[in-house]
Amino acid sequence: MTALPEGRERLRSSIIVALDTDAHTALSLAHTLRGRVEHLKVGMTLFYAEGPGIVRQFTEMGFSVFVDLKLHDIPHQVRGAAREVARAGASMLTVHASGGRAMMEAAVHGACEGSAECGSDTPDVLAVTVLTSLDDAALAEVGVAAAPAGQVELLTRLARESGVQGVVCSPREAAAARAILGPEALVVTPGVRPLWAATDDQARVATPADALAAGASHLVIGRPITGASQPALAVERIVTEG
Ligand code: C5P
Repeated sequence: MTALPEGRERLRSSIIVALDTDAHTALSLAHTLRGRVEHLKVGMTLFYAEGPGIVRQFTEMGFSVFVDLKLHDIPHQVRGAAREVARAGASMLTVHASGGRAMMEAAVHGACEGSAECGSDTPDVLAVTVLTSLDDAALAEVGVAAAPAGQVELLTRLARESGVQGVVCSPREAAAARAILGPEALVVTPGVRPLWAATDDQARVATPADALAAGASHLVIGRPITGASQPALAVERIVTEG
């Protein structure tokens, strides 16, 4: 199916490319993707290797940068970490919703403090609900009796009460999250796979078009783009085909 031009631009502006690579590869991908996507995601692999400087390099290239460290610790520690991530120039950051209300509130405070210190925009804090790599059996193994959908709804309600700007969930739970959070909130979905891409270790996947139709505001897409022989072409194929 080929998307209409306005649909294509909506899809393009929703894409966040997950750069789970070494710095050399990530910078090369950023140069290739400049002008084709607006958002890059720096996760643990890149951040732990390179530190906050890598975020600044991407913001100076004009990207908005989602720093996805999935913070999960006592509120004091998370507040400090969120403050530093905000100071690094992130436009979005993540905490685990399962870390609880006080921890999510601390992340929001930290993000406000860090951006106020730098005079920059406050990053949006996103609460990670249930990792898209977990299925029913994997959740049961860690003591969660609920199916992923029920657990996502429970954690999304808690996230809303904790003052975060949105959640991260699988595309399959995006509609439920959108219904709970309302039209303005961010609903960010990893586990996005065009029909031509491998599923890899993701368990709960959907196509880009289906994720947007379900209510996602942003789509995190990593390996279908970063592992493609021609990453720029992979982006254009996603934008065109959905
Ligand atoms: O390569 P792929 O498209 O599977 O990358 C998905 C990205 O989304 C990874 O960077 C991963 O850390 C992140 N993520 C996820 N599931 C979540 C939250 C984030 O896969 N629930």
